[in-house]
Amino acid sequence: MTLPSPFWGDTTTTLYQGDSLRILQALPTASVDAVVTDPPYSSGGMTMSARQAPTSSKYVLTGTKVQRPEFCGDNRDQRSFTLWASLWLAECLRVTRPGGVLLSFIDWRQLPSMTDAVQVGGWIWRGIVPWDKTEGVRPQMGFFRAQCEYVLTASNGPMGDQARTRRVCMPGCFRESVHSREKLHITGKPVELMKRLLDILPSGSTVLDPFAGSGTTLVAARAMGMHSIGVEMSDEYASIARDRLAGTAPTTAAAAQV
Ligand SMILES: C[S@@+](CC[C@H](N)C(=O)[O-])C[C@H]1O[C@@H](n2cnc3c(N)ncnc32)[C@H](O)[C@@H]1O
Repeated sequence: MTLPSPFWGDTTTTLYQGDSLRILQALPTASVDAVVTDPPYSSGGMTMSARQAPTSSKYVLTGTKVQRPEFCGDNRDQRSFTLWASLWLAECLRVTRPGGVLLSFIDWRQLPSMTDAVQVGGWIWRGIVPWDKTEGVRPQMGFFRAQCEYVLTASNGPMGDQARTRRVCMPGCFRESVHSREKLHITGKPVELMKRLLDILPSGSTVLDPFAGSGTTLVAARAMGMHSIGVEMSDEYASIARDRLAGTAPTTAAAAQV
């Protein structure tokens, strides 16, 4: 299988547009140090109507003024999500060097499916690091605020290669709020959070994000002096990621306020 031409690239960053499973199959074995990603969660996919709902109705608060494009691949039920995730996670394992790490976001609803898929894919599941989004998220009166998402951590076999791992003790949880101004994707992650997670790797490492969205992982990797490879299926988000990496993307506040 041959790699398609990149959608965009420079000396440190390569962005492909297409289905990550196909592009992963064409990437060389043991060619990256880490997979750091945020797949479509397919949360709420228990019923037919929930699976068909647009991503904005699942992940955007009613009354939110900023409009961002819909994204794809968020329509699976839990069984097919687990099966699909195990396919791309197995390819990610092959593409990652022995001892390399996986950091993958997920929410509480899909956490059990994702921990299964990671292990079916052949990774050693190592734990869960909560991302505390702070009190800025939607309150639930009479119940607990859904304030956290989770970063599932895993490795490709033992993590013995000390020369390629930073000898630091990473935090066990991260508190970082979402800044609407820098958020260019419906479920975009804060750049600062991604930089703090990438701090597990030495500069010069190569990071792969098979679900790049608006390119936040790639932007953070570049800021940390790392190489990165991203894949995004949606034309619109691939273009947003490209413009962001090229330094020509407007901020959400300037571009998308309605
Ligand atoms: C949760 S979002 C990632 C958001 C990203 N972390 C950011 O900060 O912008 C997941 C992305 O994966 C993309 N996607 C879904 N299925 C895909 C596939 N099979 N191959 C590549 N990208 C896919 C979606 O279009 C969406 O933009």
